[in-house]
Amino acid sequence: MSQLLIHGGRPLHGEVTIQGAKNSVLPILAATLLTAGQVEVRNCPRLRDVDASVRILRALGCEARWEGARLLVDTAGLNGCAISDILMREMRSSAIFLGAILARCGQAEMSYPGGCELGPRPIDLHLTGLRELGAEIDDSGGLLHCRAARLRGRELVLSLPSVGATENLMLAACGAEGVTTICNAAREPEIEDLQNFLNACGGKVSGAGTSTVTVEGGRQFHGCAYTVMPDRIAAATYLCAVASAGGEGFLRGAREQHLSTVTAVLREAGCDIRGTETGIACACQGRPKAVRPVRTAPYPGFPTDAQAVLMAALLRGRGTTVFEENIFENRYRHVDELTRMGADIRVAGRVAVVTGTETLHGAAVRCTDLRGGAALCVAALAAEGKTHISETGHIDRGYQDIVGDLRALGAEITRT
Ligand code: UD1
Repeated sequence: MSQLLIHGGRPLHGEVTIQGAKNSVLPILAATLLTAGQVEVRNCPRLRDVDASVRILRALGCEARWEGARLLVDTAGLNGCAISDILMREMRSSAIFLGAILARCGQAEMSYPGGCELGPRPIDLHLTGLRELGAEIDDSGGLLHCRAARLRGRELVLSLPSVGATENLMLAACGAEGVTTICNAAREPEIEDLQNFLNACGGKVSGAGTSTVTVEGGRQFHGCAYTVMPDRIAAATYLCAVASAGGEGFLRGAREQHLSTVTAVLREAGCDIRGTETGIACACQGRPKAVRPVRTAPYPGFPTDAQAVLMAALLRGRGTTVFEENIFENRYRHVDELTRMGADIRVAGRVAVVTGTETLHGAAVRCTDLRGGAALCVAALAAEGKTHISETGHIDRGYQDIVGDLRALGAEITRT
């Protein structure tokens, strides 16, 4: 597997265009199953998880082909309702296909998505909601057999605002009779993007971005051309890269309204950040300052997906910063690797205490997960000397071209 080599310790200077959002495009690709006609997904990032979704669509009989940054999907040939275990294992978010297949075919079969590197990833809320809409689900023996001659819209209340459950239920509700209201829905911008896609295809969905999402079911879905929103976590990563190495960068396409908790923390750390019509400009001089405790929370709280990259940016902070991870159980796996670069981090349960050190040094480190891998890049940019990062396949799940993007920002990085 390829390695990244970063020669750090020098400030950045440059401009990067932010890729389309991974967490938008995955549910949107599942949603193409609701349509009859061709869907053109524009600004579609080329990622391992997107390739996995394409393989699922093709295995179900759909056509999907790339034309530059556009992915063209035609679901007219859909002839299956089962996803093989191999495909399910390629991507944990494949559970998102459940609601869409059920809505289109009245039945669905797939293996139970297992845990992942972040810890257990249950889908009980997805299944409870689907059952409430009228699906019969047998989930014994690691397999999910779902049948629904009819789905009926109703009020669903999520016990916690799960992103995946909200999206899955939105998709199933599109195929239900009558109106479905999802209460305590997740409010992430990607859910609004899914709503906009569904409406562009003839759906009637409202409320995404608030805690109550309403779906009018039983509508005819047609094809459309849709542009995926910019990836706010990729943008957060590159803001943290500039904060870590110092210097200045412009993130073309990034939207500050999606990143206000991240930019607020970086401003507190001493960075000068300006959101404009066309992107976000960021300038950071010298060592960052430590900041008040950072607690991850569902949107609009601080995103768990930006915890690792922010931690990496604050390793050289003046003072001590406390992190509290409240979404996933096992999200500090990057800490041991950062320690190899001279970081001072102590972890106790869900809390990590980072005491800033004046210098970091290059080391041989290993990616443990997607965002943890990105955090190693962010730290390496500030570390004196060379850092070799291995197991970079994790990073490629979420970043289309991290080497090209960081080079555009002025970093010295190569893939070996
Ligand atoms: C999505 C994102 C992921 C991000 C996460 C939280 C995608 C493809 N992935 O993941 O990048 O880190 O949101 O912002 O969009 N939970 C349950 N039961 C369920 C579902 C979730 O207990 O049925 C728990 C999870 O274990 C976790 C929390 O709820 O602790 C949040 O999970 P959820 O919002 O569902 O995240 P994902 O949709 O998996």
